Amino acid sequence: MTLAEALNIADLRTLAQRRLPRMAFDYIDGGADDEVTLAANEARLRAHRLVWDVLVDIAAIDGRTRALGGDMRLPFFISPTAASRLFHTAGECAVARAAGRAGVAYSLSTMGSATIEDVAAATSGPKHFQVYVWKDRGLVREVLQRAKAAGFTSAILTVDVPVAGNRERDPRNSFTIPPQPSLSAALQVLARPAWLADLVRGPPIRPENFSALAATMTGGIMQFINDQFDRSVTWRDAAWMVEQWQGPFAIKGVATPTDARRCLEIGASAVWVSNHGGRQLDGAPATIDLLEPVVDAVRGDAEVIFDGGVRRGGDIVKALALGATACAIGRAYLWGLSAAGEAGVARALTILEQEFVRTMQLLGARTIKDLRRDMVRAPVFDAPIRP
Ligand code: FNR
Ligand code: LAC
Repeated sequence: MTLAEALNIADLRTLAQRRLPRMAFDYIDGGADDEVTLAANEARLRAHRLVWDVLVDIAAIDGRTRALGGDMRLPFFISPTAASRLFHTAGECAVARAAGRAGVAYSLSTMGSATIEDVAAATSGPKHFQVYVWKDRGLVREVLQRAKAAGFTSAILTVDVPVAGNRERDPRNSFTIPPQPSLSAALQVLARPAWLADLVRGPPIRPENFSALAATMTGGIMQFINDQFDRSVTWRDAAWMVEQWQGPFAIKGVATPTDARRCLEIGASAVWVSNHGGRQLDGAPATIDLLEPVVDAVRGDAEVIFDGGVRRGGDIVKALALGATACAIGRAYLWGLSAAGEAGVARALTILEQEFVRTMQLLGARTIKDLRRDMVRAPVFDAPIRP
């Protein structure tokens, strides 16, 4: 299968698996503990069903929306993820370029392996900077100032990583960022010579916006998180950050209506429903099951961003019909990046756009405003789940 022959996101995942060593593939693919939540995100989203209107003029679909301070041609965008250069030497800048060309917004992770300034130069579209709170608050302030100066549209505070999740595939594969020598790691890497050739051509992979801190990183990315992230972060710190940023601000990793209202009280402009793609608290409900209560609590006073398990354009339509303002995608574009760099990301975005448009047409919805809750049928649970 070539990139052009990849018909859907699952095909891109297959191509990614062929190009990446197992440890890198599993870092993307895996989740926490028994991966119950990881599986639930996809399964529950898929289990929701779409009901359509007939005889609607759907000659032209308009997917425009506005979120996180930016106008968007399409109602989905790039979620922040760590260390893109590990998957392809072109890294974050390639993702940002592909996104910019497609009219899709980009988000850069605190753990990104490209500088804020390089990413800003790669796309003229809306771009968002994701923040984790370091013990050293001076670093947080400094990085927010840099993002602002570079023209980033909004800040995203991720709040579902008070401590690193337990991803068991990683130690099993001897996986660390940066990669460290071990026999198991060497064998996995040697099985993927093209990836290895790519890796050795580039500079060392590290959190590029915190180079001084990164120099102290010895035990891999999850150890680094546990050493350097502040575990005592509370709503007061989030409020401090909203004040520092002075612009569109999202809180990512919200699960309950009560916390959604708290986001509004401290001045956030967007509530982001996420369980970190099933990588943090295992046993958490699928995000699609958390969405409606949050939408109801927010009552239109803020944007609601949705992520988790989006693999088809129809998944995006379901979340929007249940009240999300826009959807973020993680693995879907990472598989494209891993398969073929910038062209692979572009392919992932094209696939999702075509699927989104066709789903809207089949549903009889011309614009996002035409999507209604009663177009989505939620399946009942085997056992009652109260988010
Ligand atoms: C992530 N995610 C993430 N989130 C974040 O706020 N900062 C980060 O650095 C990362 N890093 C990261 C790495 C990898 C490899 C993945 C797969 C995910 C979570 C991400 O933004 C998003 O919430 C999920 O990926 C959404 O689920 P799907 O689309 O991957 O199913
Ligand atoms: C992850 C962290 C870095 O999900 O957010 O891997």
